[in-house]
Amino acid sequence: MARVRTAVLLSGRGSNLKSLIAAATAADFPAEIALVLSNVENAGGLEVARAAGIPAVAISHRDFESRESFDRAIDAALREANIALVCEAGFMRIHSDWFARVWEGKLLNIHPSLLPAFKGIRVHQQALDAGVKISGCTVHFIVAELDSGPIIAQASVPVLPGDTAETLAARVLEKEHKLYPHALQLVAEGKVKLENGRAVFV
Ligand code: GRF
Repeated sequence: MARVRTAVLLSGRGSNLKSLIAAATAADFPAEIALVLSNVENAGGLEVARAAGIPAVAISHRDFESRESFDRAIDAALREANIALVCEAGFMRIHSDWFARVWEGKLLNIHPSLLPAFKGIRVHQQALDAGVKISGCTVHFIVAELDSGPIIAQASVPVLPGDTAETLAARVLEKEHKLYPHALQLVAEGKVKLENGRAVFV
């Protein structure tokens, strides 16, 4: 079976990228990580990609005058590399409606909370402030509205007495590294699709 050519978009260190690359080394994994794009030139994730022999390109949003013109450059790079699926992992840019529409059903994101709770940034502090006893992570399809797309998969962790945003983040991140490859596998195999605003399991 041809493996689905997948790109990872990131802005930071790329630990989720590492876990996706590791999963994709299995011969029967249905996706290959074929391109990594970052809006940050010195993002650690670009080095992670290069060390694995994966093309890694920085496209700075600062070089564009609007959200959509930046997204059009990202779109062009994805098409040039013949990418069919995109996994965002710590990509700190909000997309234009245009991009979300063009890539609808092909765009995944991982967020470090049990959505719909705690969207946006400083997520673990939000969870601690709310006093929840369980947190976790979510992989969802991206839609135009931030952190609001149909949910593909979630994993939970306990929030422990004495947790700080850092200790909770570390516990959630361990789960992220298992959840994202699992979710990508489901989508790449066509077992989950975005239909009428819902993630439908086929
Ligand atoms: C992860 O916690 C992810 O959930 C969030 O940004 C972080 C990225 O971490 N969206 P890394 O760059 O994959 O290590």
